[in-house]
Parts: sequence; C-alpha cells; structure tokens
Amino acid sequence: MNIKENIKGIPPYVPGIKIDGKEKLSSNENPLGSSPKAISAIKNIDSYSIYPDGSSSELRDALSNKYNLKPENFIVGNGSDEILTWPSLCLINNGDNAVTGQNTFSEYTFSTLITNGEIRKAPLINGTFNVNEIVNLVDAKTKIIYVCNPNNPTGTYLPKSEILKLINSVSSEILIVIDEAYGEYGDENFYSFIPEINNYPNLLVLKTFSKIYGLASLRLGYAVANEDLILNLWKTKQPFNVNQAAQVGGLAALDDIDFVKKSIEMNNRGKKYIYNELNRLGLEYYETQANFICINVNKDCKEVYNSILEQGMTIRPCTSFGLPTHIRITIGTEEQMKKFIKYLEIAISDI
Ligand SMILES: Cc1ncc(COP(=O)(O)O)c(C=O)c1O
Repeated sequence: MNIKENIKGIPPYVPGIKIDGKEKLSSNENPLGSSPKAISAIKNIDSYSIYPDGSSSELRDALSNKYNLKPENFIVGNGSDEILTWPSLCLINNGDNAVTGQNTFSEYTFSTLITNGEIRKAPLINGTFNVNEIVNLVDAKTKIIYVCNPNNPTGTYLPKSEILKLINSVSSEILIVIDEAYGEYGDENFYSFIPEINNYPNLLVLKTFSKIYGLASLRLGYAVANEDLILNLWKTKQPFNVNQAAQVGGLAALDDIDFVKKSIEMNNRGKKYIYNELNRLGLEYYETQANFICINVNKDCKEVYNSILEQGMTIRPCTSFGLPTHIRITIGTEEQMKKFIKYLEIAISDI
C-alpha cells in the first residue's frame, strides 16, 4: 500500500506514562479527582441505548449562559484533541503551513501533518511564546497560528496586549487558535480571549474539561468562535462525537464552583511549596500559570525521569517537547509534592 508520506512522517504521540502502583504526575490531571457534581450526574443516567445528542445542545446552552454568548458560538468535541483536527481540515491545503511555538503541545503538529501541511515552530523566549518570532515565520501560505496560553510544558502565558499585537500583525485570513486548556490556573492578569470572539472573526478559543474539572477520561472539550466559523468546523465533525456521559457530566461540572475553587487553591499551595523547595535546591524553573511546573534539572531529563520512576512516581521528561534537560511535573497534593521533592533530590544527587 502507498501510505501517504505526510502520514508516514507523523511522530507518534508521547503520552504521560501510567504504571500501576506509581503516583501519576505525568499528564496534568486534577489531583483532587473529578468534579463530584459530574460524577453524581453521570450515575443518574439509567440507559445508554439511545444515541447521544449530536449537537451537545444542553451543554452549549449552558456554555452560552456562562460566557454571555450564543449557543451557535460553541462546538463540543471528544476532548479538545479532537477539535484541534477540525481547523486543519477546513483550512490546510497541500503546501500550506501552520505556525506555533518550538516547545509546546504536540497536537498542533499532528493536526497540521494529517492534512499534509507544514508545521513551523517559532523559538520561545524565556519559555514564552514570542509574537515577533511567530510573525517572522508567517507567509502567504500560513493558514493557522496556534498559541498555547498558558503554554504546555513551560506554564507561561502571553498577556492580552501581546495576543492583540499578534492578531493585529497578521492577515485576518489566518485563523488564530488560542488553546486555553489551563486558563483557570492563571493569575489575575491572565486574559481569556473568549469575550473577543465576535470582535475577531479569525479567532478560535479552545477549552477542556480534562484539567480544572478533572474529567480527562470522559473526553470533553469545546471551541468558541464566531458563528460562521463554527458552522464550517461543524461540517468536519462526526455526527455523535460526544458521548452521553460526557455531555451530562460536563453540564453538571460547569456548576461545580466549589470543586473549581478547591482545585485552584490546592494548585496555588502546591506551587508555593515547590518554588521554595526548588529555590533551596538551586534548580531553575519557569514560573507557572498552569497546574504543572517545568524544571531545568541540568542533566539528561530521561535519567532523572528514570530515577524518579524507580522511586515510585511518573513525571514527564521534556525531550519530546524539545527541552532535553527539563522535566514537567503536575502540581499534586501536598503529600505528592513532598514525595516528589524527596525523589528529585535523590535523582539529582545520584546522577
Ligand atoms: C495545551 C493542551 N491542550 C489540549 C489538551 C488536550 O485536552 P483534552 O483532554 O481536552 O483533549 C492538552 C492535554 O494535555 C493540553 O495540554
């Protein structure tokens, strides 16, 4: 069979590893578990015999109330991973390109390559997306720009002024995707671009239920954009892409203000603890606006990863993100953070 060259060239996805009996802090999941409101709503489903609502109508209605927009501004996906393939399907022709950052989430590359586009990666400056570097890579064939805000794996974000500069620096024919998967964890200066979607028809904001609501296993995410763009993305969507449990759970999670608050508070406590400990150990890290932290261990990160794994915890070596001396760890419970620091100290002194 003549498998297409662009498909053959797709690098395999590198997931955070899960190993029975080891603490898992490798995929930025919620250490508090899942939104209790979501779990109890799902338990009330008494049958799965009917196809789910292909429009996720109730969920889109609730989202439109939350953000004071129209349901037509929302499209729901089987995780934001699924949604990430739709803009490429709509926009990328052979020879076109998409631009993103050098050290970022791999799905932007994946979605570009499956549609036979070229992915261009702009250097980050101090672990942060840089507008000038992105704009330097844009040309007449650029169809999409992906900004991960806050960025996975560095945890940094671009402020409102920089994103506006980006929007104003490129053609309005280029779709700007802002992935705000970790937006809830950002500080008071973090600006979500959801309220701006009607001001900029070429803007699409991506959100997930996997992190702040602790529902990664349900697979639920959504995109927010102007109605025309949503209508076109819709054409590439499978008819029943979001299962009933995800729709019901997601709807209930939106009301779980208490769980969101606790998750953010725990994250802030963990962040403070880990900063103190990393300062004590003299290790550099990026100040994070997300639920993970990226640490420069000044050694081959795979060796540090292996040592921490042997001691009982999976974290993320950042080689696949192009950062071979960095590790990324999800900010967990107090107990998990204490264990991590203990393991890390042993790992860096052993190697
Ligand atoms: C930046 C970013 N966007 C999107 C996703 C995917 O989220 P989902 O679970 O909704 O597919 C992740 C998952 O880790 C992520 O880090």
